Amino acid sequence: MRWRDHYTKGTLIFGHRGASAYAPMNTIPAFELAYQQGADGIELDVHLSKDGQLIVLHDFTVDHTTNGTGMANTMTLAELKQLDAGYKFGAQFQGTRIPTLDEVFEAVGGKLLINVEIKSITEDTDGVEQVTADCIRRHGLMSTVIVSSFNPLALQRFRSILPQVAIGYLYAPDYTFYPEVMDTLPHEALHPYHESIDLALVEKARQAEQVINTWTVNDPAQAVSLRAMGVQGIITDKPDVIRQALA
Ligand code: G3P
Ligand code: MG
Repeated sequence: MRWRDHYTKGTLIFGHRGASAYAPMNTIPAFELAYQQGADGIELDVHLSKDGQLIVLHDFTVDHTTNGTGMANTMTLAELKQLDAGYKFGAQFQGTRIPTLDEVFEAVGGKLLINVEIKSITEDTDGVEQVTADCIRRHGLMSTVIVSSFNPLALQRFRSILPQVAIGYLYAPDYTFYPEVMDTLPHEALHPYHESIDLALVEKARQAEQVINTWTVNDPAQAVSLRAMGVQGIITDKPDVIRQALA
């Protein structure tokens, strides 16, 4: 199945870090809630722990979302699992843990499309692409996962390891790395910041047979207008609001 065949049912809604307006970002409760709110998929961010385990976390440090401090890649999975990734969002989420990608795939991999964003800002790799590919393959989710990154070098490495999985190029006007790499790297999707979209981009993507998934769109009117322009995927913190707007 080609990635773009998922869109034949219409515009797809992806919960950004889950339904992160209502539950702690990048946690199982946020992903389950996105499903309950009618999302077609979720977006999440991955890093490697010190002991090479794939964890779902946005920042490079644990400071913002947990009760710990420090770089995630200097901590083992066992250490990361000690942290509370829920209580800062709300008392009812106290005790929520940072999930591994394996745990997310087990929980929702059978019912949601999953956009795995590889967080990487270096030219060299710590091996995250290989571990991500192994995880996708282990769960048999090659046709329902798309891997995105702001780092084309990470996409290039991932593509060479697991070419049958779709890739999406993430970018924003003031945030691009080695964009020339994408000129020679076939990719199934563009993941532009929503303000980077105009009709010319939509037409260019159409000719290249690429879909456009844009982020982060929480305003219902904006979602309607992006759909009218031909954007096929909306990544949002509020899947319920966008589902209603696009009904
Ligand atoms: O993948 C879309 C979006 O998540 C990219 O930015 O910082 O929210 O990971 P960020
Ligand atoms: Mg992200």
